[in-house]
Amino acid sequence: MHLPNLEEARKRTDKKVEEKTVEYQYPKAFLNKKYFLRTYGCQMNMHDSEEIKKYLELLGFVETTTLEESDLVVLNTCAIRENAHEKVFGYLGRCKHLKREKPDLIIAIGGCMSQEEGVANEIKEKHPYVDIVFGTHNISDLPKMLLEKKEKQTIEVYSIEGDVYEQIEYKRDSNITAWVNIMYGCDKFCTYCIVPYTRGKQRSRKLEPIVKEVEELKQKGYKEVTLLGQNVNAYGKDLEEGYDFKDLLERVAKTGIERIRFVTSHPWDFTDEMIEVIAKYDNIMPYIHLPLQSGSDRILKLMGRRYTKEEYLTLFHKIKEKIPSVSVTTDIIVGFPNETEEDFLETLDVVNTCQFDSAFTFIYSPREGTPASRIKDNVTIEEKEERLQRLNALVNTYSLKKNKVLEGKIVPVLVLGENEKDKTKVYGYTDTMKLINISNGKDCIGQIVPVKITEAKSFSLDGELVSEGEEIYG
Ligand code: SAH
Ligand code: SF4
Ligand code: F3S
Repeated sequence: MHLPNLEEARKRTDKKVEEKTVEYQYPKAFLNKKYFLRTYGCQMNMHDSEEIKKYLELLGFVETTTLEESDLVVLNTCAIRENAHEKVFGYLGRCKHLKREKPDLIIAIGGCMSQEEGVANEIKEKHPYVDIVFGTHNISDLPKMLLEKKEKQTIEVYSIEGDVYEQIEYKRDSNITAWVNIMYGCDKFCTYCIVPYTRGKQRSRKLEPIVKEVEELKQKGYKEVTLLGQNVNAYGKDLEEGYDFKDLLERVAKTGIERIRFVTSHPWDFTDEMIEVIAKYDNIMPYIHLPLQSGSDRILKLMGRRYTKEEYLTLFHKIKEKIPSVSVTTDIIVGFPNETEEDFLETLDVVNTCQFDSAFTFIYSPREGTPASRIKDNVTIEEKEERLQRLNALVNTYSLKKNKVLEGKIVPVLVLGENEKDKTKVYGYTDTMKLINISNGKDCIGQIVPVKITEAKSFSLDGELVSEGEEIYG
């Protein structure tokens, strides 16, 4: 049994990261047993879940979307904020209840929460009905843990990251759009953030295998890839090869896959050359998620973000100038310890200047073991909530304003599937990453089609396919 230790995770080893491959030969020991997988958190976790699903299906499991039907429950957890924990433990209550009726039910917990110090221990002591705890560094051990489970509980969570695996197989959720990991971990250590501890040090994949993966996806008919990393702009900095994110982007663009996206960008590592490449290739989508976190220099410094308000704005304007059609979205934290009304007004000022297409906004949540959690917090919860409301009101005004401009326009949309709530409609995304529901696109799933925007709302658009002869992309 290995339990996570944040102190150990904080120490970055100089061990050279090696490329390895995963084992895929397993007996079908769970033939036709049903698994239920619930994913919390970011795209990285969702993509990890696609890897988990592959292992489970190799073991003979089939997926169910009904918890009550399952023989195995896997919770792929997130640790980014306190409420992520509450959600998982809340859900675990339901699983515990189910296990009373179905004693053979296997309950497994993986993901970033398992990597936090204390959590695996808490599960061991307070939630003995959980069978398996695994971390983000040993996902590929899950089949073995399921096959060899003898003790009441199997807990195996490594504090220190392992090597980079190549040729990972996934059971992808879509056959139209695919995630592609370009790197693992994060070395930025923003003072509020748990990710560098739960995901380990930055490990970039080599360029060639990434390009090969994209080529294979293209051959299989995929229309879009999203390159994934906590800080994609730092891609390659940990390698000796000397290439960086702009080189990777360029190579991926040259595969000719129709749409390329990437998340998340960090302002500090964003270079002019990267902007040039994004502007140059039509298949790199004009969409950038550029987390701001705060508009106050004082708070940015406390957060360890390594840029000032001025530097963020300079980068933002450069991006807008070189890629005029670009949409920019952001993440903002309010109520960081000691944030004053003046600091908060600086954040609102950036929102007013940038007029983001949308923003994810959060109340600061102290994460144990991070430097910020040791700063005495003198902002009351009422103040934090009030700031969040004011921020959201402003953000939403701009989202609606940006979307309204599109009414009547024709935009290219990659249609991804049926609208879950209204099966007569389909949904997709514009090149600028706006969600759009289309009334008459049933036959266009998997295609990039011109859609006329009939109504713009704050969080989505409505549209219809343009009939032949209408001016395209007007
Ligand atoms: N790597 C990305 C973000 C990863 S986490 C980046 O650097 O931007 C996604 C978002 O969660 C962050 O951008 C931040 O806004 C928010 N977040 C992270 N830690 C948080 C915390 N302790 N409290 C509140 N929000 C947090
Ligand atoms: Fe967290 Fe900062 Fe790394 Fe993003 S860049 S994952 S916010 S430490
Ligand atoms: Fe959450 Fe881990 Fe992602 S903490 S946001 S699932 S990297």
